[in-house]
Amino acid sequence: MSPTLPTLCGSMAAHPYRLAVELHNAAYRELGLDYTFVYFGITDPAAGIEAIRTLGIRGMNVSMPFKAAVIPYLDRLDPAARAIGAVNTIDHRDGVLTGYNTDYIGGVKALEEVTSLAGTRIALLGAGGAARAVSYGLAEKGGRVTVFNRSVERARQLADDFSLRLGGSLHDFPGCDGFDILVNCTAVGFRSADDSPVEQIALNRDTIVMDVVFLPSDTKLLRSAEAAGCRTVRGVKMLLYQACGQVELYTGCPPPVAIMEQVIEREVRNLQ
Ligand SMILES: NC(=O)c1ccc[n+]([C@@H]2O[C@H](COP(=O)([O-])OP(=O)(O)OC[C@H]3O[C@@H](n4cnc5c(N)ncnc54)[C@H](OP(=O)(O)O)[C@@H]3O)[C@@H](O)[C@H]2O)c1
Repeated sequence: MSPTLPTLCGSMAAHPYRLAVELHNAAYRELGLDYTFVYFGITDPAAGIEAIRTLGIRGMNVSMPFKAAVIPYLDRLDPAARAIGAVNTIDHRDGVLTGYNTDYIGGVKALEEVTSLAGTRIALLGAGGAARAVSYGLAEKGGRVTVFNRSVERARQLADDFSLRLGGSLHDFPGCDGFDILVNCTAVGFRSADDSPVEQIALNRDTIVMDVVFLPSDTKLLRSAEAAGCRTVRGVKMLLYQACGQVELYTGCPPPVAIMEQVIEREVRNLQ
């Protein structure tokens, strides 16, 4: 039995919640740390933040719908999280709660595994939370992002916030000619293997196609892109690298990427 209490980390609300529990605990085990990760299932963000302080919880993952709602209760905000307007990671250090966003790090790292981003022409579909995080990261890396979204007003707001180009609605998306990278940041395809945000588009085999949707891991958009000979980046990669950012913040250690990738692949396979 442990002579001291383990360091406690957890997630406020997440679906599917088992994934983060398995992933973080595997990472801590691999690092040889006496940490335990718990799913708290909190429905009130203010009470959740109070619990972090009261119980001395070291780190807390935040999922939708609380990524913006937790912000007013934190002591500090990382500049990227402030710009994106969303926190997915709360780091509790010396009594101070700091909000971070590791989604943008995950999206950028996943794409950087296959290409450098500076100067690339990127069509980004979506204007919700994931789109804000990913487009912020891509623009920071010098990507030239054009935004398309079902609601054009929301696309315009995102384009204005980060000085991106406005493409228009999803129907206005002209196909991949003129773009080096296509990124789906809409929720279309989530738990739905037969849906794609853009149907019957011309996929240029030189275009890299990324889908942030991770369930199923092989979305219809990615299957079409692979059939057209494109290089693809799966949402599970973004999920992996955003979680690596969390482990690094909570433990101060380099994340055990290989083990974490094995666990993510296994858990996503079990959920499909
Ligand atoms: N891989 C990862 O690490 C990771 C991280 C975060 C999120 N995600 C995934 O990213 C996806 C989006 O999450 P989010 O947090 O950005 O959600 P969100 O804030 O609710 O935004 C949803 C986006 O999807 C669009 N959309 C929804 N239904 C649509 C439909 N039927 N047709 C066309 N567009 C539609 C919305 O368009 P409107 O603006 O017009 O409503 C909006 O752009 C989810 O599948 C989530 O699981 C993945």
